[in-house]
Amino acid sequence: MRVCVTGAAGQIGYALLPHICSGRTFGPSTKIILHLLDIPRAQQALMGVKMELEDCGFDLLEEVVVTSDANVAFTGIDACIMLGAFPRGPGMERKDLLAKNCNIFKEQGRLLNEVASKNVKVVVVGNPANTNALVAQQCAPSIPKENFTALTRLDHNRAQSQIAMRLKVPSSAVENCTIWGNHSSTQYPDVSNSVVATAQGKQKVGDVIQNPGYLHGEFIKVVQQRGAAIINARKLSSAMSAAKAISDHMHDWVVGSNGKTVSMAVPSDGSYGIEKGLIYSFPVVCSAGKYTIVQNLKVDQFSRKMMDETMNELKQERDTALAFLNKDADTIA
Ligand code: NAD
Ligand code: LMR
Repeated sequence: MRVCVTGAAGQIGYALLPHICSGRTFGPSTKIILHLLDIPRAQQALMGVKMELEDCGFDLLEEVVVTSDANVAFTGIDACIMLGAFPRGPGMERKDLLAKNCNIFKEQGRLLNEVASKNVKVVVVGNPANTNALVAQQCAPSIPKENFTALTRLDHNRAQSQIAMRLKVPSSAVENCTIWGNHSSTQYPDVSNSVVATAQGKQKVGDVIQNPGYLHGEFIKVVQQRGAAIINARKLSSAMSAAKAISDHMHDWVVGSNGKTVSMAVPSDGSYGIEKGLIYSFPVVCSAGKYTIVQNLKVDQFSRKMMDETMNELKQERDTALAFLNKDADTIA
């Protein structure tokens, strides 16, 4: 499998590559050819990363291509993990990055269209991730629209862990958390359909945590603001947890989610009244290289309001991005 990582010399790249090369991401028997892309100024650092990969002696790693030429980086790739972007600093919202990053995703979408495999699976991580994914998708008309996704698995993992820590159970005991919408502070972390494995069997999270004030208040705020809290504490954005989440996202998409519901930002097909074409985070299950949006979940009034609020933010981001691309919103679904 040819796997491209853009922005590979950055901090997420450094934390992600061991997941990919050890088989955690694409399966324990999938051989990997890595294409590492970064800007010319980062080439020396990238050569250092390549040396370290060699020193790790990963059995699955067949070759490492290091380049600052996106044409070379994207040629023939089966998966593209798009980290390369200007990161958010203290006091910034992710959407403040739209103007800075739109051009990168426009150009890289165009090149993916020309030289990547037509089945390439793309996950955009660089912020604002959902809208950058939309920009790349719009510039790559020969690749199926559904192959463009954005990362909300980090938010999903954060939500699951918050509930698990509160209940003092392992994270894997909590199932069916959902992140709806944008990877931003309007996202809606929803546990109204979640269950937790207890000694008495599976119980609804809302029955075990009988505190709607917490589940509708502090819990949501903590997950929405977790990225900012990490930036404030580290003076750098999350990297270890982002890398783990990217690996989870790609693993489940390519290998399968084993019946588990996970969150992925994917092009909306109109499910749950979400405007078609927006890259919106939904609950999905994955198997045989495909994701399917989980249908027929109960959406109460509170959820509806939260889901619409984050959709409205995505519509605004989309309109700003489409103005850069000189396109109309009704042409993109
Ligand atoms: P970083 O600054 O450490 O690394 C980014 C790398 O991208 C740098 O090496 C830079 O040289 C490179 N780059 C910049 N422009 C490029 C271009 N045009 N082509 C190729 N490479 C380019 O940042 P990081 O901490 O690794 O984070 C990467 C991105 O991921 C940021 O946008 C950050 O905000 C975002 N992020 C998203 C999530 C999420 O859950 N979606 C989580 C964490 C971070
Ligand atoms: C995160 O959620 O940790 C990242 O998106 C970084 C950020 O900008 O918050």
